[in-house]
Amino acid sequence: MHDLVKQLPHVLNFPPSSTKGEWWKDQIICGDSLPILRVMSDESIHLAITSPPYNVGLEYDSHNDKMPYEEYLQWLTLFWKELYRVLVPGGRFALNIAPTSIKDFRPIHYHMTRDLVNLGFIMRTEILWYKQTMRRRTAWGSWKSPHNPHMVPSWEYVLVFSKGSWALEGNKADADITGEEFIKYSDAFWQIQPETRGRQPFLKSLYPPRRGRKAPEQKANSHPAPFPEELIKRLIKFYSYRGNVILDPFGGIGTVAAVAQRYGRHFVHLDLSKKYCAIAVERVAAEMKQMRLDEIPVRKPENTPVAASVAVAKRKYAPRKKVRRK
Ligand SMILES: C[S@@+](CC[C@H](N)C(=O)[O-])C[C@H]1O[C@@H](n2cnc3c(N)ncnc32)[C@H](O)[C@@H]1O
Repeated sequence: MHDLVKQLPHVLNFPPSSTKGEWWKDQIICGDSLPILRVMSDESIHLAITSPPYNVGLEYDSHNDKMPYEEYLQWLTLFWKELYRVLVPGGRFALNIAPTSIKDFRPIHYHMTRDLVNLGFIMRTEILWYKQTMRRRTAWGSWKSPHNPHMVPSWEYVLVFSKGSWALEGNKADADITGEEFIKYSDAFWQIQPETRGRQPFLKSLYPPRRGRKAPEQKANSHPAPFPEELIKRLIKFYSYRGNVILDPFGGIGTVAAVAQRYGRHFVHLDLSKKYCAIAVERVAAEMKQMRLDEIPVRKPENTPVAASVAVAKRKYAPRKKVRRK
């Protein structure tokens, strides 16, 4: 039990007291991720997965989510530049981005791809995360008229990029994806239910609550836009080997860190919010405890002392075969 307690993570406030070696590895680091990334070593990350703040005025714990559009793109480019540096050659970057700018019809996924390609990233694919959230739509533009009807996105993108090379070197024995999973995930249309029920966060900014209705209150221990674990599991198994290091620079409540831990990868979690980092610590700790429990060997019934004495008794008192006398 003592060993287990020692290994559980805690929130590491940035800057830490020591920055020796790979101090960031398997850490939940609380602070602005730009200066943190800047002090991480070159070529130390195999896969980065993130969903940046949407810039649609969501109520994050400690981040202003409403910047002018161009400023927002420039701000993110500073992070992407550092990400490129910390990725190993062939390292991957999976960027989840919703078509948030549909209100003013700005193709945000296109602009981010442009910025990433300008930094040297190779674009390798576009995953369409179909969220099946159309049942609750409320705004149609010009209802039943071609005057100015609206399309409402029922999906988000996961844009995937590589650094330098398409291939990521690794030991084949450390690939843990099954044939069935490989076939399923390589079809880039992923139908996965979102974590947040009801209105999607980006739709909330487009369509304020209907007249006379209040916006639903956020729960104390929640986050406005967490990843579903299934999405992260697929990205991790498809794009990385066991033992690789997975980074989320806008880690929120720690979905990437927890799933990375579950599948035998190292994690690096960065987020500005103390509250979200504390939740991330709890989630990773729960994964570690579960792994420890799974490692305890379950004794087979025949190996227990009771079963052994039953076996001895059976042998002793078993009816003897009759031997025929000639
Ligand atoms: C879209 S959310 C990510 C949610 C995450 N994918 C999850 O599953 O919980 C964006 C996160 O970025 C964080 N954030 C905003 N500005 C930041 C900054 N400068 N440095 C680090 N984190 C920041 C916010 O606190 C928020 O948790």
